[in-house]
Amino acid sequence: MSPTRRDVLRLAGLGAVAAGASGCGLLAGTPQPQLLVSAAPLPNPYAVPLPVPEVAEPVRNEGAVDYYELDERAAEAEILPGLRTPIWGYGGTFPGPTIEARSGRPIVVKLVNRLGEPTVLHLHGGHTPAESDGHPTDLVAPGAAREYAFPLRQRAATLWYHDHRMDHTGPQVWRGLAGMFLVRDEEEAELPLPTGERDLPLLICDRSFAADGTLLYPGLAGRPGVREAYMGGVLGDVILVNGAPWPELRVARARYRLRLCNASNARAYELATGGPMIQIGTDGGLLAAPRTVERIRLAPGERADVVVDFSAYALGRRVELRNLAAEGAQGRVMRFAVDREEADDSAVPGRLSTVEALDPGKAVVTRDFEFSSGGLHGGTGWLINGRPFEPGRMEARPKLGDVEVWRLTSDVAHPVHLHLDQFQVVSVNGERRTGPPEWKDTVELRDAQTVEIVTRFTDYRGRYVLHCHNLEHEDMAMMAAFEVV
Ligand code: C2O
Ligand code: CU
Repeated sequence: MSPTRRDVLRLAGLGAVAAGASGCGLLAGTPQPQLLVSAAPLPNPYAVPLPVPEVAEPVRNEGAVDYYELDERAAEAEILPGLRTPIWGYGGTFPGPTIEARSGRPIVVKLVNRLGEPTVLHLHGGHTPAESDGHPTDLVAPGAAREYAFPLRQRAATLWYHDHRMDHTGPQVWRGLAGMFLVRDEEEAELPLPTGERDLPLLICDRSFAADGTLLYPGLAGRPGVREAYMGGVLGDVILVNGAPWPELRVARARYRLRLCNASNARAYELATGGPMIQIGTDGGLLAAPRTVERIRLAPGERADVVVDFSAYALGRRVELRNLAAEGAQGRVMRFAVDREEADDSAVPGRLSTVEALDPGKAVVTRDFEFSSGGLHGGTGWLINGRPFEPGRMEARPKLGDVEVWRLTSDVAHPVHLHLDQFQVVSVNGERRTGPPEWKDTVELRDAQTVEIVTRFTDYRGRYVLHCHNLEHEDMAMMAAFEVV
């Protein structure tokens, strides 16, 4: 039995005390993400080949609409070599199949819930009508099914889909309910970017395992740990890429497009290869022009599209993708082994796309959203503007077509995600963001920051949410509903 929010909150006072012990300075007492230590022996890094999730096939086409079916079911996976791990998976796999769709070509996904718990499907980064957006209370009961319509009137981008059930997203995603979703378009198809097996989705997340291979999560039935002690966020000690621990991929001396997606509950990464990476895209699709970076920070929910040119390395070289935000095993992610010569006619052109700059001067209103921990029913929870999530209470009613600036402030780090439309970052701590505009749907607020974003509410009226994408914060009420009118 999963605890209800009320159970969780009743126990929360205890957790705040326990977690506060690890806090420091001004933020003492504010729960921080906690490492959940595996009891299973951890495999050697780079011993397992990188799996690539299957691409989902539509079950039928009607006119210009592709129909997919996603069955959510319990299954077993060999994640740690030699051990069986029970998972929940879309199509019985973790990650679920990758959905590849085209901009402007609608798809319908029928979600069939064969699990024992209610679920909700959300397409993260999708520009989706409210009734298909996976509002956290639009539950699909065990045994039931529901069709989600995704018109995909949006740019090519690396999206992902995952469970979004109110109060339970953390454990349900942790058990495996996540997959990649690529939107392609004509503009992108004209570019000479790497394609085929050199266009790779990499879904990165951390997990912890019991001695028998079972996934550990605080408060999951029969598992040790109190969920409330982990209200700051659950960190796993095994880093998985496409569901495999610290995998290795053999690559040719050629360019590869890596679609990096941080699907972790609470872990932020600083990804680096030790050499240059050419970033070509963000959450909301291609940049106007590529930029060379040495590292990429990705908070939970964020994506980055990069091209790595392995022809810069000699045959036999091994290139680690490391996480500079952690030490030891969690500082490793995966490895590329450069093992062959292959022809490569790909390139990264100097101009990739047109990115409109949204002018914050056009905003009709500036709204404030303060993300902080706070007292809740005698315990501690995560609040927005001092209030816990109430699905029926609208924190804002933006008008369709309006440009608005939302000013987000934090106590501790919160990766903030907006549904419906992509946004642009205007300023961080009052300092105006310079440089070419880029589209985002998730932005990380670091400790005690103020980030202003500008967005425009387009195409669809109805109820959506803004929330923290640290899934434990989200489940402890750090969410606000708004209605586009
Ligand atoms: Cu990726 Cu509202 O979530
Ligand atoms: Cu948060």
